[in-house]
Amino acid sequence: MQIIKNCLGQSHDIACRVVKEGDLVIDATAGNGNDTAFLAGLVGATGKVYAFDVQEKAIKNTTEKLEAQQLRDRAILIHDSHENMTKYIDGCVTLVMFNLGYLPGGDHNISTKFESTSKAIESAMSLLKINGLIVMVVYYGGDSGFEEKNALMEYIKNIDSKHYSVMRAEFVNQANCPPLLICIEKLSNN
Ligand SMILES: C[S@@+](CC[C@H](N)C(=O)[O-])C[C@H]1O[C@@H](n2cnc3c(N)ncnc32)[C@H](O)[C@@H]1O
Repeated sequence: MQIIKNCLGQSHDIACRVVKEGDLVIDATAGNGNDTAFLAGLVGATGKVYAFDVQEKAIKNTTEKLEAQQLRDRAILIHDSHENMTKYIDGCVTLVMFNLGYLPGGDHNISTKFESTSKAIESAMSLLKINGLIVMVVYYGGDSGFEEKNALMEYIKNIDSKHYSVMRAEFVNQANCPPLLICIEKLSNN
């Protein structure tokens, strides 16, 4: 087994370190429900995962995944864009996970876009508790293109360093645009 995991594995390792039983967390891109189910395992019976997706098919797939793992009661599934997350949640969130791109096995044209992703990051930052984290796996190249990734790379450089610590990790010697990881930790309230 490789020591340096891929970016998805690293995002899960980070989540394991920060999320505790009873926490409130968000899966901003539910998709096929893998991350929602993973997070539902971490928050335990007393915690909650709010999971968003713009596609009915993703909400259905996520529901089925949770039911198969007896985790359905730990998640609230919302068929809406993640940029609207503050309409549904008040605050005190430990972790917000994003897995950008399109639904695997779905329509590649329905993909995350910089405009809504950046608004969702703003909303997520406002909901995080101190030392709460955003972990974001960015898929790009191929059908996803480069537009969202390039705009995000510029955007994150300008997040206020007084209140947030922002890190980006990427594999620099792999072919075919391996996904990269962005982590944003809230240090203090604005
Ligand atoms: C790469 S998939 C997510 C994979 C998922 N985390 C999993 O574990 O299976 C990206 C998902 O983001 C969704 N998406 C695209 N734009 C969105 C938006 N504005 N708000 C919420 N979800 C969105 C897509 O419908 C797609 O299901």
